[in-house]
Amino acid sequence: MSEETKRKPMTVPAFRARKDGEKLVVLTAYDYPSARFADEAGIDAILVGDSVNMVVHGNPTTLTATMDMMVLHTKAVSRAAEYALVIGDMPFLSATTSDADAVRNAGRFIIEGGAGAVKVERGNGLESAITAMLRAGIPVMGHIGLTPQSILHIGGHLVQGKARAEALDIISEAQKLEELGCFSIVLECIPRELAAIITRKVSIPTIGIGAGAGCDGQVLVWHDLLGLESRYAPRHARKFADLAPIIDHAIRDYISAVKSGEFPGDAEAFAAGEGVLDNIGDLV
Ligand code: KIV
Repeated sequence: MSEETKRKPMTVPAFRARKDGEKLVVLTAYDYPSARFADEAGIDAILVGDSVNMVVHGNPTTLTATMDMMVLHTKAVSRAAEYALVIGDMPFLSATTSDADAVRNAGRFIIEGGAGAVKVERGNGLESAITAMLRAGIPVMGHIGLTPQSILHIGGHLVQGKARAEALDIISEAQKLEELGCFSIVLECIPRELAAIITRKVSIPTIGIGAGAGCDGQVLVWHDLLGLESRYAPRHARKFADLAPIIDHAIRDYISAVKSGEFPGDAEAFAAGEGVLDNIGDLV
């Protein structure tokens, strides 16, 4: 690669400046090896999403993700990310109890986790917490539309903004996040036409998930992209690979190879030095 085309680490201003340029590609990752794959492949930003609580920890919702859990995963991802911007996802209640809590928790993602920014769900009602985090020097990505941390209010993972009043509310929430100073906004599960309108109306990049192709970029969950989640397949996600059956076969092959005595073979074992073990069985 020549000096001019050498990849530079993604920064928040560079991410923001892609509003009118090439589409941004964001992927979730939760650990070192997956973050290495994402980083080396050229992903622009790795979101350490609170979806980790479902897809890695096996919980039914994101509501029980904790700050300690999120910081631990963010640390592992940051160690692997040489180029991608690492964004830590503020878990349920971490930004809502007070502005001081929001700054303290967001600060943990930066100081302990090594992230370059945080993402926070919802704009309405969180104006002062978002302002406080930004004032503390922490870049904030917004997240509106379907916000899974509001699932108890919403009643399920349902598409938002289908009614006109709701759509208007989502547009003004996006504009509010832009005015507050967020550097980007995730638009989750809203009609594609609404996402395209928001994308035209705001000067910061919109990152869609279930929001159609009219956004400035897209985000996918690691397990959905690779076909690792067998319990459910969100309609908006695409499996770019189907790894679940491959993993299943590998594990079944391992089980039968051990049971049949075929594994390990001589090439996968270590030999004693010449004469070292001669008669040793008789001595002990
Ligand atoms: O937690 C997550 O993975 C997310 C994305 C779906 C945007 O918030």
